[in-house]
Amino acid sequence: MISVGKYVDRFEEMIAGYTGSARAVACVNGTNALHLALKLAGVEQHDEVITQSLTFIATVNAIAYCNAKPVFVDVDRDTMGLSPEKMKRWLETNTKLESNQCINRSTGNRIKACVPMHTFGHPMHIEELVDLCARWNIKLIEDVAESLGSFYKGKHTGTFGCIGVLSFNGNKTITTGGGGMLVFQDKELGNYAKHLTTQAKIPHKWEFKHDAIGYNYRMPNINAALGCAQMENIEAFLNNKRETAMKYKRFFSTIGMQFFDEPKECKSNFWLNCVILEGKEEQIQFLTETNNNGVMTRPLWELMNRLPMFAECQRGDLTNAEWFADRVVNVPSGVRNSN
Ligand SMILES: Cc1ncc(COP(=O)(O)O)c(C=O)c1O
Repeated sequence: MISVGKYVDRFEEMIAGYTGSARAVACVNGTNALHLALKLAGVEQHDEVITQSLTFIATVNAIAYCNAKPVFVDVDRDTMGLSPEKMKRWLETNTKLESNQCINRSTGNRIKACVPMHTFGHPMHIEELVDLCARWNIKLIEDVAESLGSFYKGKHTGTFGCIGVLSFNGNKTITTGGGGMLVFQDKELGNYAKHLTTQAKIPHKWEFKHDAIGYNYRMPNINAALGCAQMENIEAFLNNKRETAMKYKRFFSTIGMQFFDEPKECKSNFWLNCVILEGKEEQIQFLTETNNNGVMTRPLWELMNRLPMFAECQRGDLTNAEWFADRVVNVPSGVRNSN
C-alpha cells in the first residue's frame, strides 16, 4: 500500500515538529486541504466565510466547494493580509450575535469561519484576528500555503487558529511535486482529519467499512519522501531566500523604489518578493520593460471580488486591496543555485 507508507508519517512528524503543532496531516494538495479544513470547522451549505479579496483563487474556491459564500474583507497596508480592524468594522456593521452564533443581518446566514492568508509569506496581524474570532465565535483557519518558515512573534504561522493549511506545490518554499498539509493544535481533530483523508475507513485487516463521507485526499508516500528530503534543507532554502530579499531591498532602495519588507515582530520566509510601484501606469511600464527583457515579473492576482464567479459576494471596503492591485509587481524569488 504505497499511500500509507512510512514517509507520510515521517513527513507529518517533521512538519508538526517544525511548526510546533500537535498533529499534521498530509494531503494531495493545499486546495483540498483547505476544503477539508473548512469541513472540519463545520462550514455547511449557506454558511458564510470571511476571507480577503487579495488572495489566490484556491482560498475562495475551497469555500465554494462547501456551498458556502465568501465575504471579502480588506487587507492591511503593512502586511497584505486580512485586516483585523476592517473585519471588526464589517462585523459590527453587518452582523449580530444570536445564541452565540455570528449572523449576517442582511442574509440571515451564519458566519461560520474566517480564512486569512499570509500573503507572499509575510505574517498578517494574526493575534488581533484570534481575539476577534473568539469574540464573534468564528472558527479561524489560516491559509499558510505561502508561509512555511514564516513566524509571528516567534510562533509559526498556521498555529494560531484551529487549523493551518500548507501547500507544497512546485513553486513553494519546499515542494513534494504537489501536496498540502493540515496542522492542528488539537491532536484529536488532527486524527479525525487523517481518518477523513483516507475515505473514513474503519481500520480493519480485511473489512471495508466506512463511518463518514470521507475523501481520497491523502498524500502518496512517494511525494512524502520528497517532502522529507526537502525538509532536511529548509534552513538553507530560507537563508537563500532571505539573502535574495535583502539584495532586492538594497538595490531597490538605491533607485528609490519601495520593496515590500517583512512586517514588524515577524520573520517572513520571503516566498515571493515584490515591489510597490507608484500607480497603475508605472506598474504596467515595469511589467512591460522587465518581461520584454527576459525577466519574468507579474502583477498581483486579480482581486477575488472582480472575478465573475464571486462578483456578487458581499464585501466590505476594499481600499487597500485595490491600492495594492494597481501597484504590486512580483519579482523572481526562487532559491538561487550557489554554484
Ligand atoms: C494562498 C494560497 N492558497 C492555496 C493554495 C493552493 O495550494 P495548492 O496549489 O497546493 O493546491 C496556494 C498555492 O498554490 C496559495 O498560494
